[in-house]
Amino acid sequence: MSLHSPLHLMSVVGARPQFIKLAALHAALSDFPQFRHSIVHSGQHYDPEMSQAFFDEFHLPAPDVFLQIGSAPHNVQIGKGILALDEVFSSLQPDLVLVYGDTNTTAAAAIAATKRNIPVAHIEAGLREFDKSIPEETNKLIADALADIWFAPTHTAVEQLAKEGKTTNVCFTGDIVIDLLARRYGGVSSEAQKKEIAFLTCHRAVNTDNAERLKSILEAVTNLPMPVIFSVHPRTATAISLHGLDSYLASPRIIVNKPISFWETQQLIRESCCVITDSGGVIKEAYFHQTPCIIIDEQTEWVESVDEGWATVAGAGVKKIINAVMDRKVPLGSSQALGDGKAGYRILQFLNDFFHDQS
Ligand code: UD1
Repeated sequence: MSLHSPLHLMSVVGARPQFIKLAALHAALSDFPQFRHSIVHSGQHYDPEMSQAFFDEFHLPAPDVFLQIGSAPHNVQIGKGILALDEVFSSLQPDLVLVYGDTNTTAAAAIAATKRNIPVAHIEAGLREFDKSIPEETNKLIADALADIWFAPTHTAVEQLAKEGKTTNVCFTGDIVIDLLARRYGGVSSEAQKKEIAFLTCHRAVNTDNAERLKSILEAVTNLPMPVIFSVHPRTATAISLHGLDSYLASPRIIVNKPISFWETQQLIRESCCVITDSGGVIKEAYFHQTPCIIIDEQTEWVESVDEGWATVAGAGVKKIINAVMDRKVPLGSSQALGDGKAGYRILQFLNDFFHDQS
């Protein structure tokens, strides 16, 4: 490694939320010519609206390497990812691998890079849901156990890393997706005129793999007084058919969409009177847009949103969801607890200092 030649940072991404985080980092890279950046796409997500659409929307360069690990059970997907990434790391020898969030691609990249003695930096480190039955939780634990640098989006995440003995090479950044939102909408949180519509997303295994929970969620949202716009993940579409719940999608109360673009999603979150979701990404985006959020899960890693009164953990019970929507509160403003729009800059500045100290 030499500071005279550009340091090679390699981002490994593969799932929809990672393309969005990559876009925020990519925008910040123009101020850091000391870095050469390459992109490896694992192929975990492959449908055009789950993958290419984001590269187009954010004008991202095409991935330098496209692997085709595709859909598979968790261990198979992670195993295929490790095998494919091992070859990439061995032939391209990056100076550092950046892993994002908590998908199977994240875990595979952290394992494969560590086994090749390549430093790993984890963007969105330190978040915990304290339940190892959640697939994303084990991916977070693997990535954080193996990382050399931890980019923490919240102070709660920094504290959690400290509890786990990680105090050096931990950098508080704020959430990197807030960078994109702050640039587009101005400021660090932004409230728009709301309409009497609710926006629903539901894709976490805890809901899609459990027919009773999925039915209960659909029963609740089709009994709300306002129309509900439902952006349906492919996993959820399959689960609805499998569990014989298609009739709910025919309800006049629900407007069904295929997965939509990032900025269309933001506009819907921004204009809705509330969002109903199990997505961590949507929870923090709702916080930014000052839209009350009903979490159809048993916990969240974005505890700041709950603490400030913007989000309510409702679970999947029909009455609990309906009551949470009807009793939703609109707190007076929000703090910048989930980010101030400068995460990408902080990440790259930290990496610059990290390599400088090592030279
Ligand atoms: C993954 C991440 C999750 C993230 C989500 C964003 C894991 C464990 N979970 O969940 O953290 O929030 O991405 O969307 O990595 N499928 C398609 N087309 C695609 C991709 C997937 O039809 O392009 C279908 C397949 O049936 C597949 C299923 O969706 O089996 C699940 O995909 P997968 O990537 O395993 O997990 P996600 O639910 O997308």
